[in-house]
Amino acid sequence: MNIIAPKGTKDILGDEVYTWQKIEEGVARVCKLFSIEEIRTPIFEHTELFSRGVGEATDVVQKEMYTFVTKGEKSLTLKPEGTAGVVRAYLEHGLYVNKQPSKFYYVAPNFRYEQPQSGRYRQFHQFGVEYFGSASPACDAEVISVADMLIKNLGIKNTTLYLNTLGGSGCRKKYNEALVGYLRQSYDRLCPTCKSRFEKNPLRVLDCKEGACQPIIDKAPSTLDTLGPECRNHFEQLQEILTAMGIEFKINTKIVRGLDYYTRTVFEFVTDNIHGSIGGGGRYDGLVSLLGGAQTPAAGFAMGIERLCLALLSQNINIAEKPKCDIYIGAIGGKGFLESQKLVHGLRQKGLTAESDIISRSVKAQMKYADKLGAKYSVIIGDDEIVSGKVKIKNMSTSETGEIDINEIFGFIKSKDV
Ligand code: HAM
Repeated sequence: MNIIAPKGTKDILGDEVYTWQKIEEGVARVCKLFSIEEIRTPIFEHTELFSRGVGEATDVVQKEMYTFVTKGEKSLTLKPEGTAGVVRAYLEHGLYVNKQPSKFYYVAPNFRYEQPQSGRYRQFHQFGVEYFGSASPACDAEVISVADMLIKNLGIKNTTLYLNTLGGSGCRKKYNEALVGYLRQSYDRLCPTCKSRFEKNPLRVLDCKEGACQPIIDKAPSTLDTLGPECRNHFEQLQEILTAMGIEFKINTKIVRGLDYYTRTVFEFVTDNIHGSIGGGGRYDGLVSLLGGAQTPAAGFAMGIERLCLALLSQNINIAEKPKCDIYIGAIGGKGFLESQKLVHGLRQKGLTAESDIISRSVKAQMKYADKLGAKYSVIIGDDEIVSGKVKIKNMSTSETGEIDINEIFGFIKSKDV
């Protein structure tokens, strides 16, 4: 039997795990600075949450969902994104009665049935942030600043923040009419995907990467042309706040996002040499009411952890920190072995990373293992050491040795501040 991981999935192991741990630590640290609370929602939800929330006409709902029918004949879907589940939980638990704005973050797996390629998986992980209760551009700016801070704290460079506004529902309607009118003239030259998008969701044509469609997309009307005064003002204020914060951005009117719930602000972070965006988000003032709640302004973003890892790798940034082994307690003979177990357990209880021999190896093999662990110090305990109560402690990198009392090992290691 030769079972391998399903296509589009990835085992996270070895040094990469330490990179993930550092990213997750970075996420928790940044979110604490913004008083954003963690939320953990289920991996699957009722399918209807996504078809209604993300949008029937989106690629995610049309083609990419992992949907299954339970024994109770309910249709469930592995979450393809995090926002809809957080909105569902926000409404189900009446979280709106708490403080406003309410701020949440998550780090969670998501599932999309896409063609795998570099940085694109069928199971991937997102760090996402969702803010509820503020319609102010200051909220959009703060959400963007969370993502910006994480990217900068990780040391990722060559990243551009692209900013656009889709306008509110009124401006959006006008824009759709202008876009449809324009695209109709070039319909015959559009690729088959764009032809189908033209029928179902014309805005998504702007997202097409096909060479043949680019000249058409380049000349398409801009979302900025049909903005009403309120939406224009919102967008201008957002830019002023970002500028005041020292966050650089570029306006890109072709950023429309692939999910239907966005209103007004949309944005994406794109890093050189990485396929797709490393993060994206925007304002979604209609989603909470669409899912049965009161009219509630909201904004958020999500970043792919795998894409952050790729960006780090492509820029030769190593944030992985392997845990250090403070001391290896080797043993000779039965009594030495028992003493080593007592010691190693005691040292761990006091907070040191200590290792011992649990597969009955020779002393030489034990020392080789201590080396592989990267142990800072080692001792070997046998009958003589038990009688004298003293051990030779060896600095594994310099090979220097010194003699200390067995019950002084903890203090010795601490004094060396390893
Ligand atoms: P999204 O742009 O679909 O937005 O995904 C956000 C990020 O998830 C992307 O920028 C990318 O880094 C990562 N990502 C998406 N698909 C894949 C994939 N197949 N493989 C690897 N990484 C992937 C959302 O999901 C929205 N819920 C973001 C949001 C939150 N908007 C408001 N609040």
